[in-house]
Formats: sequence, C-alpha cells, structure tokens
Amino acid sequence: MCGIVGYIGSKNAGDVIIDGLSRLEYRGYDSAGIAVISEGKIDIRRSVGKLKQLVYQLSKNELKGATGIGHTRWATHGKPSEENAHPHTDCSGKIVVVHNGIIENYLELKKRLVSEGHKFKSETDTEVLAHLVEESYKGDIFKAVVAALSQVRGTYALGVICSDNPGEIIAARQDAPLIAGIGDNENFIASDIPALLPYTRKMIFLEEGDIIRLSASKIEVLNRKGEEQKRKIQNIAWDAVQAEKGGFKHFMLKEIFEQPQTIQDTFRGRMNPETGKIELGELNIPVEAVNNLSKINIVACGTSYHAGLVGKFLFENLAKIPVEVDIASEFRYREPIIDKNAITIIISQSGETADTLAALKLVKSGNCRTLAICNVMGSTASREADDTLYTRCGPEIGVASTKAFTGQLTALYLLAIDWASKRKAISKEKAEAVIKELWEIPGRLNEVLKASEDIHALAKEFSGKRDFLFLGRNVNYPIALEGALKLKEISYIHAEGYPAGEMKHGPIALIDENMPVMVIATESKVYEKILGNIEEAKARGGTVLAIASEGDTQIKAKTTRQIFVPRVDEIFSPILNVVPTQLFSYYVAVVLGCDVDQPRNLAKSVTVE
Ligand code: AGP
Repeated sequence: MCGIVGYIGSKNAGDVIIDGLSRLEYRGYDSAGIAVISEGKIDIRRSVGKLKQLVYQLSKNELKGATGIGHTRWATHGKPSEENAHPHTDCSGKIVVVHNGIIENYLELKKRLVSEGHKFKSETDTEVLAHLVEESYKGDIFKAVVAALSQVRGTYALGVICSDNPGEIIAARQDAPLIAGIGDNENFIASDIPALLPYTRKMIFLEEGDIIRLSASKIEVLNRKGEEQKRKIQNIAWDAVQAEKGGFKHFMLKEIFEQPQTIQDTFRGRMNPETGKIELGELNIPVEAVNNLSKINIVACGTSYHAGLVGKFLFENLAKIPVEVDIASEFRYREPIIDKNAITIIISQSGETADTLAALKLVKSGNCRTLAICNVMGSTASREADDTLYTRCGPEIGVASTKAFTGQLTALYLLAIDWASKRKAISKEKAEAVIKELWEIPGRLNEVLKASEDIHALAKEFSGKRDFLFLGRNVNYPIALEGALKLKEISYIHAEGYPAGEMKHGPIALIDENMPVMVIATESKVYEKILGNIEEAKARGGTVLAIASEGDTQIKAKTTRQIFVPRVDEIFSPILNVVPTQLFSYYVAVVLGCDVDQPRNLAKSVTVE
C-alpha cells in the first residue's frame, strides 16, 4: 500500500517527512517523492526505487520549507517510474497532491480535463485529483478540494498543499486509512501510526468522508459541507514494531484480517452489481478471442497453484471452457502441447517465481496468448505476459500466502464471469446474480473472521498432533490442499490435502486417533458424499473437525468439532472456507512457538529453480 506523511510546523518538513516515510517502508513501495513549500514556491523531488535514492538526491540539494507532504508509492495505475511517483501537481505547479487508494472513474475525468486543456505528466489515476482541484480553485484550497472530491468515485487518503496557502495542509479520507498527529505547535498527517510515533502519541483517526484543515496550531475536522466533526484524540501506547503490524502479533494475522478489504479492492471498479457488468478495461483481449478460446491452461506454484485449481471449476462451470491446471515446475519440462487458440493464465503473487516465469516463456515461444494474475506491478511476470490482471492486496509480508490467495480467487471470479458473459454461456440474470454474490463476499468474510477466537481454542486443542489430513470435494478440494499447505509450512506439522472420495483408495489406512481430519463440509451438491466420508473416518477412530455451513443441524452429531461459515452459493464457498484453515494453521504455529512470518527454509518469492 502507499504511504503518506505530511508536516506543518517549525522543523524542516523534509527531515520529518523522510523520517516518517522510512517508518512506513514495511508497507512495500516502488517509488517515493516529497514536496515542500519553500519561499512561496513548491519544491518537488521524486525517485523510483527505494527511499535512499530520494535521500541521496536531497543530500545533494537540500529541501527547505516548513510545510510539506511526502509519499511512498505501491503502483496500481501506471508502472513504477519517476514520472508516476507522487506528489503530482496541477498545470500551474501551485497545487500538489499525494494519494493512497484507487480513483475508479479517473479515465473519464482525465479525458474531460485533457479536452479542456489540462496537461498531464503521468499515467496515474492520482494526477487527476491535482487537476480537479485546480479547476475548482478560486483562492480557497479547502473548497477546491471539496469540489474536486465530489466528482470522484473510488477510495482515497489524500494530502494537498498549495503554494498560495503555505500555512495549511488539506487532507481527506474515503475507504483508505489516514491519521492526523497532534504536536506542540506542529501537526502531522500519515497513513499509519509508525510514521508519527517519534513525534507524537496523540492521534486522530479520520473517519469516512472526513476532510481536515491542518495548520501548525490547529486541526479542524470537517465534513463536505464544512461542518465541524467531533473526533476523539487517541493516545497511542504501541511501540514501533507493534504499530507496523497494526496491533496484530504477526503480519500473517494482520493480512488474514485484511482480506475483506483486499477482496473489495481487487473487484472495486471492475464490476458493477447494478448493471451486472464486469469491466476489465486494463485487459486487451478482444471478445472474438474470448469466443474462440479452445482451452485455458493455468500454471502456477504452491498456493497460487491451488488458486488455479479453483479457477478450473469457475471457468468450466461458468464459461464452459475446458481448463488444464499445472504445477509450473512440472509443466516446464513435460513438453506440453501448446494450443494457439488457448490462453495460458499464470498466477503469481510476486510475479518473480522462477518456475512460473519459465513456464510463461515456454508458452510464449509457442505463440499462445498469456495473461498474468499478479500482485506486484512492474514484476517480471507482469512485464512479460501479454496482459496482466492485478490483484490489489498491497504487499504481502508474511511468507505464508493468505490475502494474495483470496485476491487471486477474486481475479479468477472476475475473469470467469466476464468470459462467461461474453461467450453467452450464462444469461444476463445469472451474471447479475453471481456479481451480486461476489459483491457480498467481503461482508460474509467478516462474519468468518468473528470465529477467530473459537478457532484459536481449536488450535490449542490440536496443536500436539504430528499428522493432519484435510479433505474436500469438488470446488473445495483445492481448499483442502491449501489448508494442508498452510499448516505444514508454518507449524511444520505433517499435513496432507486429499479429495475426500479418494480416501478409500489408500489414505484411509492412515486414520486413527492420532491423525485428526479437517473436512470441508459446507453446503454443496456433494454434501451427502462428504457426510459419507466423515462416517468412514469416524468409523476408524478418526477425530473429525468440520468446516460447515451455518444452520447445518446434521454435522454436529457426526463430527467432533465444527467451524461454521455463512451459507453462500457453492461456487463462492472456497473464498470463505479457506479462512478458517488460515486461522487454524496460524494459531497452531503460534501455540508451537514457530516463526510464523518467516518459517524455516522458506522464502517469500522462490526466484530460483
Ligand atoms: C504459499 O503460502 C507459499 N508462500 C508458496 O507456496 C507460494 O504460494 C509459491 O511460492 C508461489 O509464489 P508466487 O505466488 O509468488 O508465484
């Protein structure tokens, strides 16, 4: 996610801002920039890469000024580059903005502004904000910001300064975090607590729709009408390490709890529940190419491979396109038949996994169309694939992939619904229904997260086991694989994921009281079959933990423990059912004292064979 820091007071704004941005580096970024008001003029410096490049620039040519804003950018619209780095200015160079979030309607706004003569210098959605403020600016920068935001659809944490008004910073918040720090004759804005802790522990957490006017001596929190809003001043007791994790014990837990937001961020602006339309404007895949698709190959590793297995069900069920899913390290050496009328989707959080990149290269050599589902803008995969559909999860710090997985599923739902509609494999009504259901998923996922303490208790009860089996069927078989991977990679307990129907072909010989079985038994067309598999396991002395649908009255009598999740259409059940397995694995690893965020022997991105 991007990082914002603003300062107004008697210190050198540049020093405070650079220091604050350095405390937000954990959020991940690919470029940085800073703007101060110096002798009535705006002075801006930007650099691609790490903050130290910017610091080096400033060491050669110091920034002087007591009012300023700075930014570390995690690219979502426009590649990582100096031109795309924030801050961005209007045509006059008097108005400067930094922004975290996504302006959904930036293209239509940019088109109008360009037609009215505005000159753009970047590919970003953010720059539109600077020109919108400019066109409304008649001397009152607050009013101009309000007018600009009234035209915007999307999410923003925003900082604005204007050289005509050096004694003020304007900031605003909509669906992206922003805090104000209260100092002694100095005040601050920041995306997150760590940036401000060395200067103040008194902070105001802005609420949706808040706009603030910040001077060195005063902070006014207003709404769009300019009416004062009462906001509590919080005293932050956290130390810096706690603050980076947002108060969570580990990045992995923070990222598990971020999933409702990251799923929403990934589908935001790409689907409209009112019109039942999917809008993937960033892809250049003509409708006729979609209609002529003979097959989809999905190639990935690890958790991303499991997402691909879910994707198979989505594309075959909705778009009626045959799908083959491969582990990249196998695919690249088996001399696959490359069908020119197929499309190969590679899934990679990092976009740097060696085996996956090798598979991409192999497919491209066979002139097959390629599409990357990736979380890192500017990564190798996103540069080499013909098209990229980005998940918008922000940097995933924990080595065990969680929010990236549900982000990948979200991207796969969008593609499957879009292609199913284009191929007329589903009716308009069906498309609307499926989109409405996807729209509700973040809320349902919040319901699942409420069970985290119950799952914590379950983890304590079973953390002594040395072997675990995860069973699932149909669209939830990949979730059994993913649950087993999560448990083994962070708690080092041996765990296997299996198709439940496969048990009688061998693995059932393993089951006894020392090998608990976690079964994904939510409502589905194979529910009765799953109940049969549960009976098989119980009959051999197995202890069965079920992930089941709320209101299921049968499951309690048939299993030892249950975790209930909201009822959703079977095709959406994987994106909910995976979360109890993430939490279970996390809490088992914590009980065992494992290094949850940095498990032994593992790297976040496997960039070598
Ligand atoms: C999953 O928790 C692991 N971190 C690992 O399996 C990971 O999914 C795999 O290495 C693929 O990484 P990628 O998505 O960055 O390509």
